[in-house]
Amino acid sequence: MVPAVCRSCYEVMKMQKDLLKLLDLSGKDIAKILNVADQMKYNQKHGLAHGYLAGKTLAMIFEKNSTRTRVSFETGMFQLGGHAVFLSGKESQIGRGEPIEDTARVLSRYCDGIMIRTYGQDEVEKLAQYASIPVINGLTDFAHPCQVLADLMTVREHMARLEGLKLCFIGDGNNMANSLIVGGLKCGMDVSVACPEGYDPDPRVLEFARGAEDAVFQLCRSPEEAAVDADVVITDVWASMGQEEEAQQRRAAFAGYQVNAALMALAHPGAMVQHCLPAHRGEEITAEVFEAHAEEIFDEAENRLHAQKAVMYLLMGGGE
Ligand code: CP
Ligand code: NVA
Repeated sequence: MVPAVCRSCYEVMKMQKDLLKLLDLSGKDIAKILNVADQMKYNQKHGLAHGYLAGKTLAMIFEKNSTRTRVSFETGMFQLGGHAVFLSGKESQIGRGEPIEDTARVLSRYCDGIMIRTYGQDEVEKLAQYASIPVINGLTDFAHPCQVLADLMTVREHMARLEGLKLCFIGDGNNMANSLIVGGLKCGMDVSVACPEGYDPDPRVLEFARGAEDAVFQLCRSPEEAAVDADVVITDVWASMGQEEEAQQRRAAFAGYQVNAALMALAHPGAMVQHCLPAHRGEEITAEVFEAHAEEIFDEAENRLHAQKAVMYLLMGGGE
């Protein structure tokens, strides 16, 4: 790869103001983010200066727990020459009921971007509507776009392409399933998903998937059917944040939807495994499969940093 050492080496994209969900992006937008992410990784690995957000501040609002998202955004801002401010839902005035419309306008007076992790996608959309600065979705119940950008980056790194590969998701039709379906299809991948009845992906995502031109999309009940000839097998927890009380009921509903050696034997030889983490070994994935694919899974975790630096650069600094 050609090293990128100056701002002009990056393709500057005229993207949306915000990154709220992958449904808002084109396949071309996603490819551009992944290309810049590869350059960010190259620069960081080779000690090349890339302080493009010097003097800029990212506000990070967390209404749910996080390890990867918090550390990768904060570290990413530091590496780009900027600064990140952590705001916990509970300890800020958000937790005492200050309207999101007001928080948006206040943070827009101090900061250059906002990352938010919360429950409702509508909250993030409202924040973006009232903020004059870019808003980045760091996970909602509906979507996890930054994670899926990192997943796509990792698959492309390992497989040298995305188009024509088969991505298979096993488990809950949750935020990860929603974003993987949209991201995978927009990048020209075939996508198959296996969920138990009652746990399907969001209807808006299914509508998009069924209408996507030239895309092969399959929603099935059988994990075995979904996994056949897959190039990438992906899973996620059975109970997401906010669903802790349903954990027992979900364990019963998802029995049989485990990524294990028998399921992997149906996938393409050399198939990758991805998991956004945290993982529950013995539930959605066996320890054996997890450890056999640990390098790919931790590459995926690392690539959160590079993919998000690309997003922040493109939204918060690339156009200047
Ligand atoms: N995968 C992910 O978003 O991890 P965190 O919940 O630790 O941020
Ligand atoms: N589906 C999981 C993803 C965690 C990164 C959750 O929302 O808890």
